[in-house]
Amino acid sequence: MKLWQKDNSSVSALIERFTVGRDKEFDILLAPYDVQGSIAHVTMLGEVGLMSPEEAQRAVSGLREIAAEIAAGTFSIEPDVEDVHSQVELMLTKRIGDTGKMIHSGRSRNDQVAVDIKLFLRAAILDVKNRVSSLFRLLQSTSEAHKDDLLPGYTHLQIGMPSSFGLWLGAYAESLVDDLEILAAAYQVANKNPLGSGAGYGSSFPLNRTRTTELLGFAALNYNSVYAQMTRGKTEKAVAMGLGSIASTLGRLAMDCCLYMNQNFAFISFPDELTTGSSIMPHKKNPDVFELIRAKCNRIQSVPNELTLMLANLPSGYHRDLQLTKEILFPALEEIKACMELMELMLSNIVVRKGILAEEKYKYLFSVEEVNKLVNLGIPFREAYKQVGQRIADGSFAFDGSQPLHHTHEGSIGRLNTAEIAGLMENVLAKFS
Ligand code: ARG
Repeated sequence: MKLWQKDNSSVSALIERFTVGRDKEFDILLAPYDVQGSIAHVTMLGEVGLMSPEEAQRAVSGLREIAAEIAAGTFSIEPDVEDVHSQVELMLTKRIGDTGKMIHSGRSRNDQVAVDIKLFLRAAILDVKNRVSSLFRLLQSTSEAHKDDLLPGYTHLQIGMPSSFGLWLGAYAESLVDDLEILAAAYQVANKNPLGSGAGYGSSFPLNRTRTTELLGFAALNYNSVYAQMTRGKTEKAVAMGLGSIASTLGRLAMDCCLYMNQNFAFISFPDELTTGSSIMPHKKNPDVFELIRAKCNRIQSVPNELTLMLANLPSGYHRDLQLTKEILFPALEEIKACMELMELMLSNIVVRKGILAEEKYKYLFSVEEVNKLVNLGIPFREAYKQVGQRIADGSFAFDGSQPLHHTHEGSIGRLNTAEIAGLMENVLAKFS
């Protein structure tokens, strides 16, 4: 029997299986937030007189017991129950009797699931944010530890100019700052209350939506009831864009690591226990972790697109289509967290090869240094460029790589601005509070 069934006629098993699909798998994750939303709703119903103070109190206590079951891991959605919303109401009614049947006044599963998802995503964003900030700190400290270890810098994947491990790792740290700017925007979108919008057109009951907003700790309401429903899908997309941005940073870092582990580069290596072998080639130390991070992060970057296509041109109002945002976005949250965890593990064990640029094959990395040296002696840049080009062409170019390099401007190998970048991170982290 479903919440919405008026008699005992039953839905075809095939329809049931198709419409519920994988929804319960993801609804389980919403359970604590479903109860939290219900406690706020019931508290408000008690305050505006739609339930008596005693009834509201009984319902809140019953809901708290259900919350404890969820926390203890003993909560499940029974086979013939459609979703988490139905399960919680059913359990409450079994526990406290008819009072349990009052809690849905002025509410629909449409605003219920919308508020559940906002609460769930708000917490998930904070979790992701913490992991990003931890990876950021590791990148910064590793960058500082290797600030004097030089690395070839490439353009077009051709040897370009001197870079350093400090500059390389610091770049990814700074990239995470901007990724969090996008995630912080998603946080602002998620941090507004759709509860009380009902099925999408409000209610004739004197609900106090400002009160539930306060009880749930949202920064504001989604005021317009039609718009409150439209935030379903829009919020998921905003979060997906934040995840996609982080994924892009991680995916590119993973690709760099694959390349730098390659024997022709051999800039970095990792302990045996962090690499994988081949079943046939005994010498192999494969970068499987980075390859999988790369692939997973590429998939995560398709999530905003997948959501966009699924939701494009939906008319206003609730549609069952929206149910599927959960199975698209929720696994991506787990994947990005796993990728960050593994990236942290790998980077905390990175072994950096020193003295790379002393190799003959990297001598042209210093062509710009040589040009600049001539410019400093008073030769105009274009003329100096020609002279050095000539020496490279006739094979007479030589550069003494043992000379210290003088890069002094902001964001150069000689000045990583690690503290300033940490300051940018502090500013963005404050946006999540
Ligand atoms: N599982 C549904 C969803 O995620 C819950 C809302 C159902 N509402 C409805 N009108 N059928 O969207």
